Amino acid sequence: MPEAQIAVVTGGASGIGWATCAELRRTGWKVALADLDIGRAEERAASDSDVFFAVALDVRNQTSVDECFQKITDRWDHIDLLVNSAGIQAHTRLAELDWLAWESVLDVNLSGTLRCMVAASRYMLARKRGTIVNLSSVAGERGAPGRAPYNASKAAVVSLTRTAAVEWALSGLRVNAVAPGYVETEMLAEFQQSGSLDLSHILQRTPMGRLASPLEIASVICFLASEAASFITGQVIAVDGGFLADYGVPSSHVPDSA
Ligand SMILES: NC(=O)c1ccc[n+]([C@@H]2O[C@H](COP(=O)([O-])OP(=O)(O)OC[C@H]3O[C@@H](n4cnc5c(N)ncnc54)[C@H](O)[C@@H]3O)[C@@H](O)[C@H]2O)c1
Repeated sequence: MPEAQIAVVTGGASGIGWATCAELRRTGWKVALADLDIGRAEERAASDSDVFFAVALDVRNQTSVDECFQKITDRWDHIDLLVNSAGIQAHTRLAELDWLAWESVLDVNLSGTLRCMVAASRYMLARKRGTIVNLSSVAGERGAPGRAPYNASKAAVVSLTRTAAVEWALSGLRVNAVAPGYVETEMLAEFQQSGSLDLSHILQRTPMGRLASPLEIASVICFLASEAASFITGQVIAVDGGFLADYGVPSSHVPDSA
Protein backbone atom coordinates (compact mmCIF):
# COMPACT_ATOMS: atom_id res chain seq x y z
CA MET A 1 0.00 0.00 0.00
CA PRO A 2 1.39 3.47 -0.85
CA GLU A 3 2.49 5.60 2.10
CA ALA A 4 -0.24 8.01 3.31
CA GLN A 5 0.28 11.69 2.57
CA ILE A 6 0.38 13.70 5.80
CA ALA A 7 -0.70 17.35 6.08
CA VAL A 8 -0.55 19.82 8.95
CA VAL A 9 -3.01 22.72 8.74
CA THR A 10 -2.54 25.52 11.27
CA GLY A 11 -5.78 27.33 12.00
CA GLY A 12 -7.40 24.09 10.84
CA ALA A 13 -10.43 24.46 13.10
CA SER A 14 -12.01 27.35 11.22
CA GLY A 15 -12.67 29.06 7.88
CA ILE A 16 -10.13 28.51 5.11
CA GLY A 17 -8.11 26.14 7.32
CA TRP A 18 -11.05 23.82 7.96
CA ALA A 19 -12.15 23.91 4.31
CA THR A 20 -8.59 22.91 3.39
CA CYS A 21 -8.65 20.01 5.88
CA ALA A 22 -11.93 18.77 4.38
CA GLU A 23 -10.65 19.08 0.81
CA LEU A 24 -7.40 17.29 1.67
CA ARG A 25 -9.43 14.47 3.22
CA ARG A 26 -11.50 14.23 0.05
CA THR A 27 -8.31 13.80 -1.98
CA GLY A 28 -6.89 11.06 0.26
CA TRP A 29 -4.63 12.88 2.74
CA LYS A 30 -4.39 12.39 6.50
CA VAL A 31 -4.65 15.76 8.21
CA ALA A 32 -3.55 17.26 11.54
CA LEU A 33 -5.79 20.16 12.57
CA ALA A 34 -3.42 22.33 14.61
CA ASP A 35 -5.22 25.18 16.34
CA LEU A 36 -5.31 27.44 19.37
CA ASP A 37 -8.97 26.50 19.72
CA ILE A 38 -8.37 22.84 20.56
CA GLY A 39 -12.01 22.26 21.56
CA ARG A 40 -13.18 23.22 18.11
CA ALA A 41 -10.36 21.31 16.41
CA GLU A 42 -11.38 18.18 18.36
CA GLU A 43 -15.01 18.62 17.38
CA ARG A 44 -14.04 18.90 13.72
CA ALA A 45 -11.64 15.95 13.93
CA ALA A 46 -14.32 13.74 15.50
CA SER A 47 -16.11 13.74 12.12
CA ASP A 48 -13.47 11.23 10.87
CA SER A 49 -10.95 10.09 13.47
CA ASP A 50 -9.12 7.82 10.96
CA VAL A 51 -8.19 10.84 8.86
CA PHE A 52 -8.17 13.84 11.21
CA PHE A 53 -5.97 14.44 14.26
CA ALA A 54 -6.59 17.49 16.45
CA VAL A 55 -3.49 19.00 18.05
CA ALA A 56 -3.20 22.05 20.30
CA LEU A 57 -1.01 24.75 18.80
CA ASP A 58 -0.17 28.32 19.67
CA VAL A 59 1.96 29.60 16.79
CA ARG A 60 3.21 32.42 19.06
CA ASN A 61 4.97 29.96 21.33
CA GLN A 62 8.05 28.01 20.20
CA THR A 63 7.55 25.21 22.76
CA SER A 64 3.96 24.76 21.63
CA VAL A 65 5.07 24.61 17.98
CA ASP A 66 7.79 22.03 18.72
CA GLU A 67 5.42 19.89 20.81
CA CYS A 68 2.72 20.03 18.14
CA PHE A 69 5.02 18.81 15.36
CA GLN A 70 6.47 16.13 17.67
CA LYS A 71 2.95 14.80 18.41
CA ILE A 72 2.09 14.70 14.72
CA THR A 73 5.27 12.86 13.72
CA ASP A 74 4.89 10.49 16.70
CA ARG A 75 1.53 9.53 15.23
CA TRP A 76 2.27 9.56 11.51
CA ASP A 77 6.08 9.52 11.23
CA HIS A 78 6.49 12.20 8.59
CA ILE A 79 5.01 15.44 7.17
CA ASP A 80 4.41 16.07 3.45
CA LEU A 81 2.50 19.34 3.63
CA LEU A 82 2.23 22.36 5.90
CA VAL A 83 -0.56 24.89 5.35
CA ASN A 84 -0.14 28.04 7.45
CA SER A 85 -3.70 29.31 7.83
CA ALA A 86 -3.63 30.54 11.47
CA GLY A 87 -4.10 34.28 11.34
CA ILE A 88 -5.57 37.26 13.17
CA GLN A 89 -6.33 40.86 12.30
CA ALA A 90 -6.41 44.18 14.14
CA HIS A 91 -7.00 47.73 13.06
CA THR A 92 -5.06 50.75 14.22
CA ARG A 93 -4.26 54.07 12.59
CA LEU A 94 -0.59 54.91 12.17
CA ALA A 95 -0.68 58.21 14.05
CA GLU A 96 -2.14 56.52 17.16
CA LEU A 97 -0.45 53.19 16.57
CA ASP A 98 -1.44 50.49 19.04
CA TRP A 99 1.91 48.76 19.40
CA LEU A 100 0.37 45.78 21.14
CA ALA A 101 -1.90 45.21 18.12
CA TRP A 102 1.10 45.58 15.79
CA GLU A 103 3.16 43.06 17.77
CA SER A 104 0.28 40.57 18.20
CA VAL A 105 -0.57 40.51 14.51
CA LEU A 106 3.06 40.23 13.42
CA ASP A 107 3.66 37.51 16.02
CA VAL A 108 0.83 35.30 14.76
CA ASN A 109 0.73 36.05 11.03
CA LEU A 110 4.44 36.42 10.31
CA SER A 111 6.58 34.93 13.11
CA GLY A 112 4.00 32.17 13.70
CA THR A 113 4.14 31.23 10.02
CA LEU A 114 7.94 31.21 10.18
CA ARG A 115 8.05 29.12 13.39
CA CYS A 116 5.85 26.47 11.74
CA MET A 117 7.82 26.57 8.48
CA VAL A 118 11.08 25.96 10.33
CA ALA A 119 9.53 23.19 12.47
CA ALA A 120 8.06 21.42 9.42
CA SER A 121 11.25 21.85 7.42
CA ARG A 122 13.19 19.76 9.96
CA TYR A 123 11.09 16.76 8.99
CA MET A 124 10.84 17.64 5.29
CA LEU A 125 14.54 18.37 4.72
CA ALA A 126 15.48 15.04 6.30
CA ARG A 127 13.44 13.27 3.59
CA LYS A 128 14.24 15.81 0.86
CA ARG A 129 10.56 16.24 0.09
CA GLY A 130 7.65 18.36 1.20
CA THR A 131 5.61 21.40 0.35
CA ILE A 132 4.40 24.47 2.23
CA VAL A 133 1.50 26.77 1.40
CA ASN A 134 1.25 30.07 3.26
CA LEU A 135 -1.76 32.39 3.51
CA SER A 136 -1.05 35.89 2.33
CA SER A 137 -3.87 38.19 1.18
CA VAL A 138 -4.72 40.86 -1.35
CA ALA A 139 -4.03 43.07 1.69
CA GLY A 140 -0.34 42.21 1.30
CA GLU A 141 -0.33 43.75 -2.18
CA ARG A 142 -2.21 47.01 -1.52
CA GLY A 143 -2.46 49.70 1.11
CA ALA A 144 -5.56 50.40 3.21
CA PRO A 145 -6.15 52.92 6.02
CA GLY A 146 -5.84 51.48 9.52
CA ARG A 147 -4.54 48.12 8.31
CA ALA A 148 -0.79 48.51 8.86
CA PRO A 149 -0.25 45.41 11.06
CA TYR A 150 -2.31 43.05 8.92
CA ASN A 151 -1.14 44.35 5.55
CA ALA A 152 2.52 44.47 6.56
CA SER A 153 2.30 40.93 7.96
CA LYS A 154 0.80 39.60 4.73
CA ALA A 155 3.35 41.40 2.54
CA ALA A 156 6.14 39.93 4.68
CA VAL A 157 4.64 36.44 4.29
CA VAL A 158 5.11 36.86 0.53
CA SER A 159 8.78 37.70 1.03
CA LEU A 160 9.22 34.80 3.42
CA THR A 161 7.57 32.47 0.91
CA ARG A 162 9.91 33.52 -1.89
CA THR A 163 13.01 33.33 0.30
CA ALA A 164 12.18 29.86 1.61
CA ALA A 165 11.30 28.66 -1.89
CA VAL A 166 14.69 29.68 -3.20
CA GLU A 167 16.63 28.51 -0.14
CA TRP A 168 15.02 25.06 -0.12
CA ALA A 169 14.50 24.46 -3.85
CA LEU A 170 17.47 22.12 -4.25
CA SER A 171 16.50 20.30 -1.06
CA GLY A 172 13.24 19.03 -2.59
CA LEU A 173 10.86 21.47 -0.90
CA ARG A 174 8.35 23.73 -2.65
CA VAL A 175 6.96 26.83 -0.94
CA ASN A 176 4.07 28.89 -2.31
CA ALA A 177 1.38 31.25 -1.06
CA VAL A 178 -2.20 32.01 -1.87
CA ALA A 179 -3.50 35.57 -1.63
CA PRO A 180 -7.27 35.41 -1.13
CA GLY A 181 -9.55 38.32 -1.73
CA TYR A 182 -12.52 38.57 0.65
CA VAL A 183 -13.69 35.14 1.84
CA GLU A 184 -16.88 34.27 3.69
CA THR A 185 -15.40 33.21 7.06
CA GLU A 186 -15.61 34.20 10.73
CA MET A 187 -12.68 36.55 10.26
CA LEU A 188 -14.73 38.51 7.76
CA ALA A 189 -17.80 38.40 10.02
CA GLU A 190 -15.65 39.91 12.81
CA PHE A 191 -14.52 42.68 10.46
CA GLN A 192 -18.18 43.46 9.70
CA GLN A 193 -19.30 43.31 13.33
CA SER A 194 -16.57 45.73 14.39
CA GLY A 195 -17.84 48.18 11.78
CA SER A 196 -14.53 48.15 9.91
CA LEU A 197 -15.82 46.57 6.74
CA ASP A 198 -18.49 47.80 4.38
CA LEU A 199 -19.54 44.69 2.50
CA SER A 200 -21.34 46.58 -0.26
CA HIS A 201 -18.10 48.46 -1.03
CA ILE A 202 -16.14 45.18 -1.18
CA LEU A 203 -18.68 43.60 -3.52
CA GLN A 204 -18.56 46.67 -5.75
CA ARG A 205 -14.74 46.69 -5.66
CA THR A 206 -14.52 42.97 -6.62
CA PRO A 207 -14.99 42.50 -10.39
CA MET A 208 -16.79 39.17 -9.86
CA GLY A 209 -19.17 40.97 -7.48
CA ARG A 210 -19.19 38.39 -4.69
CA LEU A 211 -17.18 36.91 -1.83
CA ALA A 212 -15.14 33.71 -2.21
CA SER A 213 -16.24 30.56 -0.45
CA PRO A 214 -13.59 28.94 1.79
CA LEU A 215 -13.61 25.96 -0.60
CA GLU A 216 -12.54 28.18 -3.51
CA ILE A 217 -9.36 29.03 -1.56
CA ALA A 218 -8.89 25.46 -0.27
CA SER A 219 -8.98 23.97 -3.75
CA VAL A 220 -6.09 26.20 -4.90
CA ILE A 221 -4.12 25.29 -1.76
CA CYS A 222 -4.71 21.61 -2.59
CA PHE A 223 -3.59 22.17 -6.18
CA LEU A 224 -0.34 23.80 -4.96
CA ALA A 225 0.18 20.84 -2.63
CA SER A 226 -0.36 18.30 -5.39
CA GLU A 227 1.99 16.71 -7.93
CA ALA A 228 0.20 18.76 -10.60
CA ALA A 229 2.13 21.74 -9.21
CA SER A 230 5.49 19.93 -9.05
CA PHE A 231 7.41 22.74 -10.85
CA ILE A 232 5.72 25.64 -9.05
CA THR A 233 7.64 27.25 -6.21
CA GLY A 234 8.00 30.78 -4.82
CA GLN A 235 4.68 31.88 -6.32
CA VAL A 236 1.80 33.85 -4.84
CA ILE A 237 -1.50 32.90 -6.43
CA ALA A 238 -4.22 35.51 -6.04
CA VAL A 239 -7.66 33.92 -5.59
CA ASP A 240 -9.59 37.15 -5.56
CA GLY A 241 -12.35 37.36 -8.18
CA GLY A 242 -10.26 39.92 -10.11
CA PHE A 243 -9.66 42.29 -7.15
CA LEU A 244 -5.96 42.91 -7.82
CA ALA A 245 -6.39 43.11 -11.59
CA ASP A 246 -8.76 46.06 -11.25
CA TYR A 247 -7.46 49.58 -10.73
CA GLY A 248 -10.86 50.99 -9.98
CA VAL A 249 -12.32 52.69 -13.06
CA PRO A 250 -16.09 52.10 -12.89
CA SER A 251 -17.68 50.74 -16.05
CA SER A 252 -20.04 53.75 -16.00
CA HIS A 253 -16.99 55.76 -17.15
CA VAL A 254 -17.06 54.01 -20.53
CA PRO A 255 -19.20 55.95 -23.03
CA ASP A 256 -21.89 53.97 -24.82
CA SER A 257 -20.62 52.96 -28.25
CA ALA A 258 -22.23 54.84 -31.13
N1 LIG B 1 -11.28 35.55 5.41
C1 LIG B 1 -10.72 36.33 4.52
O1 LIG B 1 -11.40 37.15 3.86
C2 LIG B 1 -9.22 36.25 4.27
C3 LIG B 1 -8.71 36.95 3.17
C4 LIG B 1 -7.35 36.89 2.91
C5 LIG B 1 -6.52 36.13 3.74
N2 LIG B 1 -7.04 35.46 4.79
C6 LIG B 1 -6.10 34.70 5.63
O2 LIG B 1 -6.46 33.33 5.62
C7 LIG B 1 -6.14 32.72 6.88
C8 LIG B 1 -7.37 32.05 7.46
O3 LIG B 1 -8.37 33.04 7.63
P1 LIG B 1 -9.87 32.67 8.03
O4 LIG B 1 -10.73 33.71 7.46
O5 LIG B 1 -10.11 31.24 7.75
O6 LIG B 1 -9.78 32.93 9.62
P2 LIG B 1 -10.60 32.29 10.84
O7 LIG B 1 -10.63 33.38 11.87
O8 LIG B 1 -11.88 31.68 10.39
O9 LIG B 1 -9.62 31.13 11.32
C9 LIG B 1 -8.36 31.38 11.86
C10 LIG B 1 -7.96 30.21 12.75
O10 LIG B 1 -6.65 30.49 13.28
C11 LIG B 1 -6.64 30.09 14.63
N3 LIG B 1 -5.60 30.82 15.36
C12 LIG B 1 -5.61 32.14 15.71
N4 LIG B 1 -4.52 32.43 16.41
C13 LIG B 1 -3.80 31.29 16.52
C14 LIG B 1 -2.57 30.95 17.16
N5 LIG B 1 -1.87 31.85 17.89
N6 LIG B 1 -2.10 29.69 17.06
C15 LIG B 1 -2.81 28.76 16.37
N7 LIG B 1 -4.00 29.00 15.77
C16 LIG B 1 -4.48 30.25 15.85
C17 LIG B 1 -8.03 30.40 15.15
O11 LIG B 1 -8.33 29.66 16.34
C18 LIG B 1 -8.89 29.99 13.95
O12 LIG B 1 -9.28 28.62 14.04
C19 LIG B 1 -5.59 33.86 7.76
O13 LIG B 1 -4.18 33.83 7.72
C20 LIG B 1 -6.12 35.10 7.09
O14 LIG B 1 -5.32 36.22 7.35
C21 LIG B 1 -8.38 35.49 5.08
